[in-house]
Amino acid sequence: MTPDEAKEAAAREALKHVRDGMKLGLGTGSTAAKFVAGLGEMVAQGLNVVCVPTSEATRKQAESLNIPLTRLDEEPILDLTVDGADELDSDLSLIKGGGGALLREKIVASSSRQMIVIADDTKKVDTLGKFALPIEVVPFGVKSTAMKIEHASRWAGCEGPLALRIRDGELFVTDNGNVIIDCAFGQIPDAQKLASALSTIPGVVDHGLFLDMASLAILGGPNGIEIIERKR
Ligand code: A5P
Repeated sequence: MTPDEAKEAAAREALKHVRDGMKLGLGTGSTAAKFVAGLGEMVAQGLNVVCVPTSEATRKQAESLNIPLTRLDEEPILDLTVDGADELDSDLSLIKGGGGALLREKIVASSSRQMIVIADDTKKVDTLGKFALPIEVVPFGVKSTAMKIEHASRWAGCEGPLALRIRDGELFVTDNGNVIIDCAFGQIPDAQKLASALSTIPGVVDHGLFLDMASLAILGGPNGIEIIERKR
């Protein structure tokens, strides 16, 4: 099974959780795109849902499939968000933001009664941190903000290089007009401590640690589908 097939299998399994009349949050990334594609097929067959996309890329995809969209300001409470992840552990703590959409993803997921994560099983880790943690910061004073991030991270037991995200030779700018600092910590021994420390830094808009948000993960892999439920 290729990683692509594993993502497809996870997305197909997640579609089974969709019910007629639901208000849905649509994630961002290659796995979420497979969910959106499948949802488009269901909508074409008569499924009635209304959705909030977590990025402009997902908005475009959903529009092209005639999936009814709304804004979070119109529907501030959603039934279900389905999104991918860059890493997840057995507690369903996540690193997200590899695609740069972490802020809207977190706002949408936290406005949903349930969040389901879909991924191929290579995303599962014992300890978060191998994937560089994305942090969205405002462009003003970015150097000073980066120094504060470094300091706070050390306090939380994390060390490693920080890098301003560059894509195709250009500074990466998020859908919200901000930039991303990727923090290659290698491992994050206490994600809760790090998350709290990062949240107090002026200039940090949000970070890619999604803790206590996802209640279910659906992982595709060579042995089929693995389901992980959050225990607490
Ligand atoms: C987007 O900002 C991310 O949070 C994605 O959900 C994450 O990067 C997973 O993407 P893939 O499904 O493409 O691996």
